[in-house]
Amino acid sequence: MKLKSVLLVLSAALSFNAYAQAPIVIKFSHVVATDTPKGQAAERFKQLAEKATNGRVKVEVYPNSQLYKDKEELEALQLGAVQMLAPSLAKFGPLGVKEFEAFDLPYIFPSKTALYNVTEGEIGKGLLKKLEPKGITGLAFWDNGFKVMSANKPLRTPADFKGLKLRIQSSKVLDAQMRALGANPQVLAFSEVYQALQTGVVDGTENPPSNMYTQKMHEVQKYVTVSNHGYLGYAVIVNKKFWDGLPPDIRTALDKAMKDATTFEKAIAQRDNDLALDAIKKTGKTDIYTLSVKEQAEWRKALLPVQQSMESRIGKDLISAINKEAAK
Ligand code: LMR
Repeated sequence: MKLKSVLLVLSAALSFNAYAQAPIVIKFSHVVATDTPKGQAAERFKQLAEKATNGRVKVEVYPNSQLYKDKEELEALQLGAVQMLAPSLAKFGPLGVKEFEAFDLPYIFPSKTALYNVTEGEIGKGLLKKLEPKGITGLAFWDNGFKVMSANKPLRTPADFKGLKLRIQSSKVLDAQMRALGANPQVLAFSEVYQALQTGVVDGTENPPSNMYTQKMHEVQKYVTVSNHGYLGYAVIVNKKFWDGLPPDIRTALDKAMKDATTFEKAIAQRDNDLALDAIKKTGKTDIYTLSVKEQAEWRKALLPVQQSMESRIGKDLISAINKEAAK
């Protein structure tokens, strides 16, 4: 009897100890390859977070849509099946936060500096706040780059787009952009793009070169146009209930890890895209063409009406505030 009580106490102590030591797990799901700016930054965050919390937090990174595709990952985050994501800014519309689609407006950012003025200033903060009623906390903006267009025919003037089926992310602005060029947009999850291009379900697409190269899209696209017509970046987000429930010291350590991972991410994004474009060129499979100033002016002219037609969706004030920052 005595021995039994001793054993009971011992096993209770052991399981309490195991409980006390069980790490807090952050499942971080994303849809791109590990050797992209986002993929590398997720790994960097994991290293920094685990070190800063002495292993009290374990970050499990799931790249390449291994766990969830675009739409499902946002649902999984809201349900708490994963804790952290970094969807592209074009993917927040279906969640009901249409303002994020402002980042998709063609030619709205003349440079990365203009973009950072927006993401790192009051506009960026205000946008992340809009996620809270959805049960989401926005932690940071991560960078990728300006997009190229690709197809199996040269795309030099807006007339070249006529009738092409082009894959887009789930953004009404991108839909309007492709229609303004005369193309037929088709929303597809990122994980489905390579196959859709290969089988001819769609004729072409747009993406920063780092995404194109790491998904091998260039193997099934003969022509790439460096048009820099739009931007693709990310918001790093967490399940709000999970985040608010963390011990304050852990949250502070994770905030700092995120800040450092963000600095790292921004430092590698442009270089990765430049290297990816070079690598595509070197395969010799895809012709890379950069728009001349005159050609770009034609694209701008064709795409200008998109800003106005999207005002009622995104908000006129937000668009003019971004234009003002971009002009600084
Ligand atoms: C896409 O769907 O094209 C991109 O948003 C993928 C990504 O996360 O960069």
